[in-house]
Amino acid sequence: MPTKPIKIGIIGCGHIAQKHLASYEAIMQKESDLFRITSVCDMVEENARALAARIAEWQDSEPLAHTDVHKMVVHYELHGADICTPHYDHHVSGVQCLEAGTNVLIEKPFGLTSRASRLILDAAAKKKLITACAGNIRRQPAQRALHWAIHQRGMIGEPRMFFVQHAGYHRPTTPRAWHWRTDKFMGGGGMIMDQGIHFADMISYLFGEPERIYATVRQHEKWPYIREGKTIFDDREDMWMVMLNLKSGVDGFWSSTAVAPGEPSTVIAYYGSAGSITDDSDVFTGPSPNARLTRQGEAVRPLSEVIQEYMKSLSADDRGRLFPHGFEDSITLEIYDFLRALATDTKPEIDGSLGLRTKAICEAIYESAHCNEAVPYDEVVNGFIEGYQREINDYWGI
Ligand SMILES: NC(=O)c1ccc[n+]([C@@H]2O[C@H](COP(=O)([O-])OP(=O)(O)OC[C@H]3O[C@@H](n4cnc5c(N)ncnc54)[C@H](O)[C@@H]3O)[C@@H](O)[C@H]2O)c1
Repeated sequence: MPTKPIKIGIIGCGHIAQKHLASYEAIMQKESDLFRITSVCDMVEENARALAARIAEWQDSEPLAHTDVHKMVVHYELHGADICTPHYDHHVSGVQCLEAGTNVLIEKPFGLTSRASRLILDAAAKKKLITACAGNIRRQPAQRALHWAIHQRGMIGEPRMFFVQHAGYHRPTTPRAWHWRTDKFMGGGGMIMDQGIHFADMISYLFGEPERIYATVRQHEKWPYIREGKTIFDDREDMWMVMLNLKSGVDGFWSSTAVAPGEPSTVIAYYGSAGSITDDSDVFTGPSPNARLTRQGEAVRPLSEVIQEYMKSLSADDRGRLFPHGFEDSITLEIYDFLRALATDTKPEIDGSLGLRTKAICEAIYESAHCNEAVPYDEVVNGFIEGYQREINDYWGI
């Protein structure tokens, strides 16, 4: 167990690292001796230097700026690394950190593929180190309240089914700037994997893991991207329809598309034996506080009211565990969970094994579409089914 302050390194100093930074700053304001960010690393030196300078604005020392993960973790003591690199690098940086004795918090999705995720877990097991996966959405008051309303208050009765669907339109012919996410080998998949992982975590949090998944995944439009002056085309999906049969007996349908011109539509609906929760916010991260809870034959209640009731019902211990220092921002909560796990040598809520299992829901969707059959979820988790992922694993030599 490290003595405080815990030494943290941030790897990958791009978009999400900036968000993590705001959370570290908020935590430091409440617990000034909990941690220090002593190193940051980005393959682009100016990104690392810029992040280090920003940290020095609120921390009493400026972190060292590195460009090589291996050198950083081998030469400088770090108790935890917060890995914010693109998906294809998670297992590379993750294994380097773990082999050097550094615990890891890895941004979602945990590994590029199921195999890549297992490489990280194996490295952690060898060194008996902590792995955490940065799943943030379930930590929000609305999602915690929903879980409580369903499981402790039985507000919709026995959960039965859900329908989560969105149809919208983004003009597919407008060229966009190329980004690693547009490359199947770098991202591991498209939105099913990138944002869909939030949906996957929420569904398993609320209703448990899938037994079986059947999916159709298509690309209707060739999306142009500009990379170094050249136009290249995105091969990611722009439409999916997924049927999920969960081990709990709940059945669900999840679908989203960005190529449905005309009137957009969004439905988020969970039904149980006594009522429903409905919403029209976001099919990846919903339901929102604007959702409505309806018990059959009773007046509709806004979820915001249920959230208040839930927050009031929390014991001091639960409040300290779920919303330490009154934090409600989901990224702050995920980072605090990691720091607390390091400080107390305990398991974070979403550890690497859960990260792998959540990611396997997204992977099972691609696998089902690849073989055009329903796939047993557990066989995707344990790696027996990997037809879709094989090409990605071969590409990176995983
Ligand atoms: N939880 C969320 O809501 C959320 C939101 C956005 C992104 N993310 C996740 O965060 C991760 C990063 O996404 P992003 O949007 O910040 O990407 P980004 O492209 O903005 O930043 C990635 C950074 O990593 C650096 N990098 C790449 N390979 C590296 C290596 N080997 N060593 C050191 N640095 C390296 C790049 O130079 C870049 O600065 C992804 O896993 C993504 O899915 C999560």
